[in-house]
Amino acid sequence: MLYLQRRDRSAKMTKANSRFPLLQILNNLGYYSMKRYIFLLIILMLTTLQVVAQTKNEAFVPKAVWNDTDGKPINAHGGGLLKYGGKYYWYGEYKVGETILPSWATWECYRTDVTGVSCYSSKDLLNWTFEGLALSAEKDNPESDLHPSKVIERPKVVYNKKTKKFVMWVHAESADYSKAAAGVAVSDTPTGPFKYIGSFRPNGAMSRDQTLFVDDDGTCYQFSSSEDNQTLHINRLTDDYLKPDGQYVRRFIGQSREAPAVFKYKNKYYMISSGCTGWDPNRAELAVADSIMGEWKVIGDPCTGIDADKTFYGQSTYVIPVNPKKGQFIACFDMWKKKDLADSRYIWLPIKIDRDTGDMKIPWMPKWTLKELKNK
Ligand code: GAL
Repeated sequence: MLYLQRRDRSAKMTKANSRFPLLQILNNLGYYSMKRYIFLLIILMLTTLQVVAQTKNEAFVPKAVWNDTDGKPINAHGGGLLKYGGKYYWYGEYKVGETILPSWATWECYRTDVTGVSCYSSKDLLNWTFEGLALSAEKDNPESDLHPSKVIERPKVVYNKKTKKFVMWVHAESADYSKAAAGVAVSDTPTGPFKYIGSFRPNGAMSRDQTLFVDDDGTCYQFSSSEDNQTLHINRLTDDYLKPDGQYVRRFIGQSREAPAVFKYKNKYYMISSGCTGWDPNRAELAVADSIMGEWKVIGDPCTGIDADKTFYGQSTYVIPVNPKKGQFIACFDMWKKKDLADSRYIWLPIKIDRDTGDMKIPWMPKWTLKELKNK
């Protein structure tokens, strides 16, 4: 009986096999091994579907762990973005391993060893693929700024259309934060490897928290917390973006502004910055100027909603110009975990711009999608 059933079945299968070669292979494996094979195939498909479902990000969830397309937490702190060739690249401090408070520390200079600057790529700003380290630590050279014993923070990358090079500026520090310098690296490709050129104090002045901004005419500026973090320096760079061209201004004098993030909307320049309280959060501030090196006017705190007075427990790092003409910008903040820096999180929120009045607000949102960028 069993034999007949099997024979009957195999007759039907032979007919089907001629149309579907895969069935032929399965049939050759024998009926019972085929059953096992199909079962394994289903399990494999379900697992794949589950993995895909796990890694596909549909919305921004500030403060949650954000996974990359491999399902691993995105590790790109104090970062900045670059749009190039239809893709976004996200560069940040690659913080791994133990957070250390040196025995000699007189303040909370928590740090992790320098491992390098990470790079992620994405087409939709939500799903990020790890591209590896764009700039790597130099483990064997204790003199290097990139030696694990040092500090590398706030990497920002811009593309120079004239030289066709990708240029990275970082805050290059010693473990006791006395170096206060800017480091520069270059690459032919957005993902690197970047070649580290060296560090210096721009125009002879201290440079700690920093960002880069390229204006529409291609001129690049470095904004940096200088003079013991009391005053912000805006340094105009040479055409190749590799060093300051000697023109700079001191702004926000004695106002202790840190973590500058600069963007341009309707021919005005805006800067979001934080106060100066180390890894601890404080109130954000928005300022505006008609020209970069001109006068900057403080507008006030743009954050609204729960914990707005502490920037939602975040600190500014970058503003993404998603569609600047339409007033679509995303403000990026780091939520530092000072005793476990590697587990620091990200808070990205849409900047809500009233297109009639120019009024800008950053309301707290626990979860949001890119539809939120559509302003009034
Ligand atoms: C913050 C700064 C961070 C890091 C930290 C060290 O004020 O924004 O990038 O330097 O201090 O305590």
